[in-house]
Amino acid sequence: MLTRRFLLSSTALLATLPAAARAQAPDTDTGETRASSPDGVLSVEVRVNGEGRAEYSVSRLGRTIIAPSRLGFLLTDAPKLERNFTVTADAPTRHDETWEQPWGEQRFMRNRYTQLRVHLTERSAPNRRLDVVFRLYDDGLGFRYEFPEQTSLASVNIAAELTEFAIADAGTAWWIPAFEWNREEYLYNRTRIDAVGVAQTPMTVRTDDGLHLSIHEAALIDYSGMNLRRVEGGRFKAALTPGLTNAAVERTAPFTTPWRTIQIADTAAGLVTSGLILNLNEPNALGDVSWFKPMKYVGVWWEMHLNTRTWSSGPRHGATTENVIKHIDFAAAHGFGGVLVEGWNKGWDGDWFGTGWDYSFTETYPDFDLQRIAAHARSKGVEIIGHHETGGNAFHYERQMDAGFALYQRLGWHSVKTGYVADAGGARVRGRDGLPQLAWHESQAMAQHHMRVIEAAARHQVAVNAHEPFKDTGLRRTWPNMVSREGARGMEFNAWGQPGNPPEHELNLVFTRLLAGPMDYTPGIFGMETQSPDGIATTWAKQLALYVTIYSPLVMAADLLEHYEANPGPFQFIKDVVTDWSETRVLNGEIGDFVTIVRKDRNADQWFLGAMTDEHPRVLEASLSFLDPDRRYRAEIYRDAPDAHWKTNREAIIIESRYVTASDTLVLRLAPGGGQAIRFVPTGRGRRA
Ligand code: NOJ
Ligand code: CA
Repeated sequence: MLTRRFLLSSTALLATLPAAARAQAPDTDTGETRASSPDGVLSVEVRVNGEGRAEYSVSRLGRTIIAPSRLGFLLTDAPKLERNFTVTADAPTRHDETWEQPWGEQRFMRNRYTQLRVHLTERSAPNRRLDVVFRLYDDGLGFRYEFPEQTSLASVNIAAELTEFAIADAGTAWWIPAFEWNREEYLYNRTRIDAVGVAQTPMTVRTDDGLHLSIHEAALIDYSGMNLRRVEGGRFKAALTPGLTNAAVERTAPFTTPWRTIQIADTAAGLVTSGLILNLNEPNALGDVSWFKPMKYVGVWWEMHLNTRTWSSGPRHGATTENVIKHIDFAAAHGFGGVLVEGWNKGWDGDWFGTGWDYSFTETYPDFDLQRIAAHARSKGVEIIGHHETGGNAFHYERQMDAGFALYQRLGWHSVKTGYVADAGGARVRGRDGLPQLAWHESQAMAQHHMRVIEAAARHQVAVNAHEPFKDTGLRRTWPNMVSREGARGMEFNAWGQPGNPPEHELNLVFTRLLAGPMDYTPGIFGMETQSPDGIATTWAKQLALYVTIYSPLVMAADLLEHYEANPGPFQFIKDVVTDWSETRVLNGEIGDFVTIVRKDRNADQWFLGAMTDEHPRVLEASLSFLDPDRRYRAEIYRDAPDAHWKTNREAIIIESRYVTASDTLVLRLAPGGGQAIRFVPTGRGRRA
C-alpha cells in the first residue's frame, strides 16, 4: 500500500516538470545518455563501460527495474559488434498521436512516447556504426537496433543477438519453454524468475513487491523470433531462433531489427490494456480493409477433434456437401457470419500431419460440391472460412497459395484459417539452392514466408487466421488482414489433450499470450465429456465469459450444432455477443488467478462483461461506472449456480436479468473453474427510463 501511494505521488510530481528537465541531452564526456517517458514514469540510460561495451538500464519512478543489460551482436563472418564503442545520442524527441484501428479491441489508440536515438561507433577501424532507438512510454518501452548503410558492414549475418534483460527484482514468472517440439502449445510454468530456463515471449513476471513486467517483441517482419535464455539470477539474454545456415538472421544494411519490448505496470490489468506492441508497428499499409468483417463462426471442426468425423475422405468425412449446408443453414438462422470448413481439399488421406506434400489448395474431395456450397452460402448471407493446412510445408504452399486465395476471392470468401502442423524445426522452406530445407517455425525464413502469405492474401482480399503460427508481434496494425492466430494451447486440447487445459490455463493466457495479440481460442463448448481426462475443465458460464475475455475478431462457436440447439438458454449469449469493440477495460485480475474484462460494442450502445477464475471459487466486485451515467441498462446475466464446479457440475448455470445503472456495483460469485458473462443493454434515456 505504501509503495502504491509513493508511486502515485511521484507520478503526479514528475508530470509537472518541463520536458527539457526529463529528456536530457547526451553527455558525450561520460559516454552516458538518458531520457524519460512523457510523464516521467520510466527512464532509460545508455552507457558504455571501460571496455566500450554498450549497456542500457531502465528505471521506474527512480527505482531500477532493468539493471545494466548488454547490447550488441555476434556475427558469423565479421568481428563481433559489442565493444570498443563510443556512445552519442540525438536530443530526445516527443511524439503524441491517436490512430484508429479498422477493427479491434479498442477503436482509438494513443501513441505517446519519447524517442531517444543512440549512436554507437567503434573507436578504431573498421569504425562500424550501430544505432539503438528507444521509445519510452509511461507503461513500457521498446528499443530496436538500426544498422545504417556502411561499406564496412554491408551484409549482416547475425550469429547471436547479445541483448539482455536483467530483471532487477526477484519475483514470479509465467512462461512456456522455447525450442521444444510442440512449438507454442504448452501449459504455462509458474516459477520463480531465477528458475526459468529458455522461455518464449511474451514472458510475464510479477516482482515480489507487485510490479508487473512482460517481455516480448514488436514488428517481427524479416528477422528470427526472439526467445529468452536465463543466464543467471534474473538476467535473460536474447536467444534467436536458428536460421538456415549458421546465421540466425541474414540481412543487408540498412535495416532495423524488431522492437524488443518491456511492458511495465502496477497491476496485471495494466498489462492487458497497453497499446505498446501495436503502437510500435507501422501504420496501415493496406488502406481500406472493410471487405473483412469481424464475425462469429461455426464450423466443420470439433467433430474431427472428437474423432467422430474425419478430415480425410471416406465414410466419416466431415466436409461433405450435406454437412456443410447444414452448418450454413444453422449459421444463417442464428446470425453467424461464417462457417469454417476443414478437410474440403485433397491431401488429408493417410498421415495428414506428415510432410504436407499432398495438399492441394484448389482441388476438392468429390463429396464436397464447391459451386453448390458457395451459391448456397451466398444466398444465405454466410461466408465460408477457407482452410489451408500446410503441414508446415511453406515450400509447397507457396507454389499454390495464390491460386488458393484467387479461388476464395472468386467465391466471395474473405478469410482463411492456415495451419502449420509440424514439429518445431520441421517446417519446410525453399533453401538457397531452391530445394526444400527444414526450418524452425519462428525462423527468419518462416517470418518471410508469413509476410508473403499476408501480402498474397491481401491482394485477394483475404484475411488470415494462422494456426501453429509465427508469433504475434502486432503486425495487424500495418497489415490489418492478419487478423488472428492460435499460437498457444487452444480449446482443441480439451478434446484430446492428455492432459487438457486446466482451469487456470485461460487465466494464464490473458496475461501472457494474449498480450501479443488476438487468439483464435475457439470457445463455447457445452458438451463437456471428451477424450481428455477432465473433459472441458470449466463451467458453462466460463465458456461464455471466454467470448469477452479472450479477444479475437474471428470467434468460433466451436461446439457441435446439436449442443446449441439443445441449450438455447446459454446459447443466447453466444448469439448476442459481438466481436468488434470500441473500448476495453480490465476491472480486476491477477495472473493465472482471475480476471474481469468489459468491452463496448463498436457498432451499438451495449457493453459485455466476462469474468473468470481458476480452480478456486471467487467473489469479485464489478463497479458499473463504465456505463453511461444517464442510462438504465438491462443486465442479462449468465452466472454459475451456487453448486457449480468445473469437475462435477459444469452445466449448472443461472440465467437472469436485472436493471442496473452506472452507480451500481455487481458482486460476481464464480464457482471453482467458473465464470460469469453479462450483456448490458440500454433500456432508455434517464436512470428511471
Ligand atoms: C491444428 C489446428 O490448431 C486445428 O484447429 C486444426 O483443426 C488442425 N490443426 C487441422 O488443420
Ligand atoms: Ca494447434
